[in-house]
Amino acid sequence: MSGGGNGGNRDADDAPHLATVAVHAGAEVDPETGAVTPPIHPSTTFVQEADGSARAGYVYARTGNPTRTRLERAVAALHPAAGPNAAAAAFASGSAAASAVLRSVDPGGVVVVPDDMYHGIRRLLAAQASRWGVALRAVDTSDLGALEAALAPGDVALVWLETPSNPSLKITDVAAAVRLAHGAGARLAVDATWTPPGVADPFRQGADLVMHSSTKYLAGHSDVLGGVVVARGEDDPTFAFVRELQGLEGAVPSPFDAWLTLRGLRTLALRVRAASESAERLAAFLADHPAVHVVAYPGRPDHPNHAVAKAQMERFGAMLSFRVRGGADAARRVAAAPRWFRSATSLGGVESLIEHRAPVEGPDTPTPDDLLRVSVGIEATDDLLRDLEGALARV
Ligand SMILES: Cc1ncc(COP(=O)(O)O)c(C=O)c1O
Repeated sequence: MSGGGNGGNRDADDAPHLATVAVHAGAEVDPETGAVTPPIHPSTTFVQEADGSARAGYVYARTGNPTRTRLERAVAALHPAAGPNAAAAAFASGSAAASAVLRSVDPGGVVVVPDDMYHGIRRLLAAQASRWGVALRAVDTSDLGALEAALAPGDVALVWLETPSNPSLKITDVAAAVRLAHGAGARLAVDATWTPPGVADPFRQGADLVMHSSTKYLAGHSDVLGGVVVARGEDDPTFAFVRELQGLEGAVPSPFDAWLTLRGLRTLALRVRAASESAERLAAFLADHPAVHVVAYPGRPDHPNHAVAKAQMERFGAMLSFRVRGGADAARRVAAAPRWFRSATSLGGVESLIEHRAPVEGPDTPTPDDLLRVSVGIEATDDLLRDLEGALARV
């Protein structure tokens, strides 16, 4: 661990810290008014000069809007490992962002996906991939031998990773997966929704593309949907496809949504640090609790890939899951009991959430029915600990 969040994502001693970039990226002073916070530009259309050129590069809001551009520049800047030409494309949801990357695969191609992954994208792929002419190969990507075997036929176009995975927090060695994917001629994208800047940056391990549901940590207040795809440059071939689709389809955030997300970004470093520190303490508490039989948290020394997590993450993050003794009924009772944790889906907001996960994922889910997923917020850790202690007394 590198002292994470503040210094861990810096490439050089004089590079700004994450906390500084998060406050200032996309917040350049408005040249028209001197405003310190960015304006919201609701205009859908922009005047053209007599020669037909666009004054500031904007023609129509589906293809570009100044508030969205600020958001895209800010998110790109928060990924210094993507290099000086990093580019980002903002979407109306994380799922739309993921879909844009996944649809870059040509018909006949194969996408390798994790066996444990966000159920919404699993369902999106199950429903749509065959219509795109794309085949899926689900594999435990935390098992590099299994990943290598999945790549062996030589037909894989894209490896899609989640690490930690949702909801079982499996950890995949991203650098090793990149080597295997590239060796087999495939590209590699990481859904980094659970590892915002300050927790991990998969570009550091060589990922080609990173996607975030900005609904979660980037915006951070459970009040705006969004998604972002980040690449090392506009000329990345997959990103060029994503950018084109963004403009052609217009599954983009409204200017107000882009602004809200930008506003959320300002406190990203603080939120992520506080929430991750609490999560470490909560995971330790849960691991010692007699009503709990499994705790999945990459910061635990007993996590099967703890060493990999330690090497590739700046912090262990604020997501964890645990399994209670007593099955689904006990899990339901625990989810319903807390005072501060809200019993709700989603993650990455300032408020802590607890969720009995299997019913949310539906009858065909591989998620055990005694599993509770927790998104740790930024409340005082002691209050959260007392809250969980009280809830577990109901098991
Ligand atoms: C890991 C992960 N990826 C993608 C998404 C989808 O994001 P959105 O709800 O913004 O479409 C989620 C949502 O929970 C998620 O947890």
